[in-house]
Amino acid sequence: MKILITGANGMLGEKCTDILAEKHELLTTDLADKLTYSNAIPYAVLDITKSESVNRLFSEYKPELILNCAAYTNVDGAEKNKELAHGVNVDGVKNILAALSGTNAKIIHISTDYVFDGAHGPYRETDKPKPINYYGMTKFLSEEAIRHSSIPWTIIRTNVIFGDSNFQEASFVSWVLNKITNRETIRVVNDQFGNPTWADGLAMTIDKIIDKQVSGLYHYAGSDYINRFEFALEIASIYSLDPTFIRSITTRTLGQLAPRPFKAGLITDLIRKETGVKIFSIKEALTIMKGTE
Ligand SMILES: NC(=O)c1ccc[n+]([C@@H]2O[C@H](COP(=O)([O-])OP(=O)(O)OC[C@H]3O[C@@H](n4cnc5c(N)ncnc54)[C@H](OP(=O)(O)O)[C@@H]3O)[C@@H](O)[C@H]2O)c1
Repeated sequence: MKILITGANGMLGEKCTDILAEKHELLTTDLADKLTYSNAIPYAVLDITKSESVNRLFSEYKPELILNCAAYTNVDGAEKNKELAHGVNVDGVKNILAALSGTNAKIIHISTDYVFDGAHGPYRETDKPKPINYYGMTKFLSEEAIRHSSIPWTIIRTNVIFGDSNFQEASFVSWVLNKITNRETIRVVNDQFGNPTWADGLAMTIDKIIDKQVSGLYHYAGSDYINRFEFALEIASIYSLDPTFIRSITTRTLGQLAPRPFKAGLITDLIRKETGVKIFSIKEALTIMKGTE
């Protein structure tokens, strides 16, 4: 299948590219002037906020599937840069949908548990979204744009993605490892709950969704429902690092700019039942990551 991946330099984009390149014809795209981890895979610069560029590239390449991994993902940044966040997460998605109109191509889009308010998580696909921060709002609006379009779609909501991608900046795991290895104390919130998701497991799931031609809305996440402080302790434990460098703090004390859903996270029964994908625990994922270093 001819697949165009947006945001291919991002944490998830890299993992999807790795897996999908084995059996599909790919065109990877992102803002940067090259694919940061491979010279062998076809790449084009694409800013999804530029509708003319999207139209031009799509009509030249004629993809059968768009995997949209591009997004503005800085949750606090989105409160300050609303125009940019909306431009990428909502208008960018609308540009993709418009460019696909009149073709038979399909879109797979990635969304988030931050479409929920975090009052009663973890959440099912049937629960009603109620975003409480601007990032969550833009992701909800992107879902709405897709649902109301005529383009065949699959939306996968996920949360707290972690992995060993090239995109270290965004990785919670590498942040914890680097800080503790440098004997720096870190403060990690103990009241934001979710089920951390191994990027490779999500990429395997997307591969399966493509193979089985599954469409609709699905939740995919890890099997452990824990808070970020407990997650950091688990990272230290698996990498045999001193846990005393990790201090527990409340969200209120930390004072993050964007309000956070406290009991967020996702229930994955539906995707497991319909596709048989594997749901990884944090321990399984970190053990594999550690073994491949
Ligand atoms: N990370 C998480 O914990 C998490 C949780 C739930 C859902 N998600 C969703 O999962 C998806 C993938 O997330 P991720 O963690 O892989 O994100 P990421 O690492 O931040 O990657 C996003 C990529 O999109 C690129 N991008 C930004 N603006 C763009 C534009 N205008 N046109 C084209 N590309 C653009 C970014 O480039 P620059 O780096 O140069 O800006 C980056 O390479 C997103 O839809 C996100 O909302 C993520």
